[in-house]
Amino acid sequence: VGTHLGCYKDSFSSRILNGGMTTYKTMLGKQKCLMLCTESGYLYAGLQYGSECFCGSERPNDGDRFPPEKSKCNYPCAGNPKENCGGYLAMDVYQTGLIPLRPAPATQEIKKALETPVRVVYLLTLSGRAVRQVRRLIRRLYHVDNYFLIHVDSRQDYLYRELLPLESQFRNIRLVQDRMATIWGGSSLLQMLLHCMKHLLTLDWDWSFVMNLSESDYPIKDPQELVHFLTINRGRNFVKSHGRDAPTFIKKQGMDKTFVECDNHMYRIGSRQIPMGIQIDGGSDWVCLHRDFVQYLTHGSDETLEGLKRFFNFALLPAEAFFHIVLKNTEFCSTILNNNLHLTNWNRKQGCKCQHKAVVDWCGCSPNDFKPSDWNRLLGAEKRPLYFGRKFEPVINQEILFQVDQWIYGDDFQVNLTSVHSFWQNIFHHQDTSPAPKIEYLSVASSLIQDFLDQQSPKIGFDKVLEITSYQNNDRLQGILVLFLSSEPSVAAFEVLIKLSFQRKTVQLQDFNIDIRVGSEYDKKEQVFRNLFEVMEPESDPHLMYQSDPFNSTHVITFAWFDPKGTLSAVSDKRFYNASSVLDAIPSGLSRPLHPGMWTVQAIVNGQMKAEIQFPIFPILPSLIPDQKQWEKLHEGSVSPKDISTFEIEPKFVALSKAHPSLSHPRFSPKLSNSDADVQAYINDLASAFFTVKSICAVSLDQTTVQSPLCHDQPWSSFSPDPKSKITEINPDTGLL
Ligand code: UDX
Repeated sequence: VGTHLGCYKDSFSSRILNGGMTTYKTMLGKQKCLMLCTESGYLYAGLQYGSECFCGSERPNDGDRFPPEKSKCNYPCAGNPKENCGGYLAMDVYQTGLIPLRPAPATQEIKKALETPVRVVYLLTLSGRAVRQVRRLIRRLYHVDNYFLIHVDSRQDYLYRELLPLESQFRNIRLVQDRMATIWGGSSLLQMLLHCMKHLLTLDWDWSFVMNLSESDYPIKDPQELVHFLTINRGRNFVKSHGRDAPTFIKKQGMDKTFVECDNHMYRIGSRQIPMGIQIDGGSDWVCLHRDFVQYLTHGSDETLEGLKRFFNFALLPAEAFFHIVLKNTEFCSTILNNNLHLTNWNRKQGCKCQHKAVVDWCGCSPNDFKPSDWNRLLGAEKRPLYFGRKFEPVINQEILFQVDQWIYGDDFQVNLTSVHSFWQNIFHHQDTSPAPKIEYLSVASSLIQDFLDQQSPKIGFDKVLEITSYQNNDRLQGILVLFLSSEPSVAAFEVLIKLSFQRKTVQLQDFNIDIRVGSEYDKKEQVFRNLFEVMEPESDPHLMYQSDPFNSTHVITFAWFDPKGTLSAVSDKRFYNASSVLDAIPSGLSRPLHPGMWTVQAIVNGQMKAEIQFPIFPILPSLIPDQKQWEKLHEGSVSPKDISTFEIEPKFVALSKAHPSLSHPRFSPKLSNSDADVQAYINDLASAFFTVKSICAVSLDQTTVQSPLCHDQPWSSFSPDPKSKITEINPDTGLL
């Protein structure tokens, strides 16, 4: 206990409020230790005087404010009388986060408690398309005695459809039917959580705690340890506080602004007063709540609760403060523990780049995805009561998940299986209506398949694209897979592997090199292009990404963007400073719509072209845009490229424009008379310059498909075995999967 305290000494003294600080400092100075009475396995802060421990009291005889609960060190705080609310028991534990490193050595009492472990509901609030990661998460968390309630953002058809069969397979997994469009930071997130909790109380499930998790959470300890921890902390509510002073928190959070969620956007409509007489707190929206509190949240009808619900209906990121504030201002205050049970990978420099501006009128932050370079951070959580890491995204890095699995579970996969290091993520599904499927993906995929099949003998017919999937191995994109249906010579499904031509270019200077790439859907936080297929259309937003090693001198590189007609359409300068290694992106600054065809970016240093990169903008088939005038408008490019006048008066850019190499690709001329066939021919031409179909496999073999290998046996295919994401039968001996 002494050592434990030592670790916290500084932060402890600085964090105590209400004048407690001096007292604690003095006491620490006198070596009268502050202690955690963990011998009994109960969780609470107290003070030791001589051989006695005062649980939940700032000092003995503090009876004027909080009757001292004089007791032995094994006094169970969880059972502390509620009169202590607002007092030091809540504050000590809550403000300091003094909690046992691990469940204390099992005493008789603990052993007895653990005989009936609590049952936990994992409330999975999901969005995106990473269904294999969600399955991997469920596979790790599953135990027959626990439960899963799954809410999928109502705009995510694919994820919902793929997870729905779990309901019939497991009695303890349910999907929420009435789903909401839970936008980032939206008030709908809290409404959804409250709705799910209400629903949980109606189910015939015997649970004690509910914990919300997202698709990017992953256990960093054996989930059974979490169950033990919660078992010895029955009645507690786990919420993490921001650790700042309240006014700063209110400002940063925009809590003093009214937000209204409408059309999937959080609009800021004005300022507002924070309710008087309410203690403000907040921090993380990843919480673990006890059933009693959930019961109160659902059925309580007092003014405080009702008022706070109303207040948070118009708040940004409401789940980051609602639970904290309700807990703090009600009889549940003594049940708070300042811990969200998560290790969150914050890297504010990267994560606070205002990347949610399109959805909320505010600049919010997001944690970064874990990578192997964060390993020490994860190791640091080993001795702390943290059970999940946030965020893990295999499309960004899967190696770290492998490392975590090895750490917790040892070698329980066949490590030699290629698929351990492979990740597949669907990017198009023919059944989806929301989010709107990317029609440009469909036309490029169809074009490539048709072209490939034309060269095959015997003939395989092409009917329709069913799915498009990105395929990564060892955290590198290996290709794009297209699953398609053929009805010739018989009905069968095939999958092809498409490789992207490697379009990265190097700018070579005297003392350093810079790699440049062009892509779209640039993620500022993770510094990647999310558009893995790299198919762009006239409304895409291309960026140029560059990466360099440290170097010795400063250089200015000008990037000049030429449209398919050879017109200089945008210019951006970038200064690379001495010795800094960089990985970042520059927006093209191009006006949209972009003219379809082959675009060129040149890297110019001191007036000399050092590298050139080309990228295609694909036209959309006329039949896919019902209004033909609109189609024509979309394809004729931008009438006046942004800032073109600036370029024109700059002689060097005039020179550049003239120096542009002869166009390597025929121009695309949009006319109302264009037919699908004309446009498809253009797409075919452009697509074949950038992509190649490398392999084909048959989903199932019969006499007609026997010429193709079976997809199951192709390590690249989405049909090859992927045990890490396979949800199997329950093991009757362990209750696990
Ligand atoms: C971070 C913090 O971890 C979180 O506490 C805070 O509320 C927001 O910032 P972040 O990575 O930015 O999280 O958000 P993300 O994981 O993308 O989304 C948070 C939750 O909202 C997830 O459960 C996610 O599934 C859900 N969500 C997000 C949707 O349901 N729909 C969306 O469009 C976006």
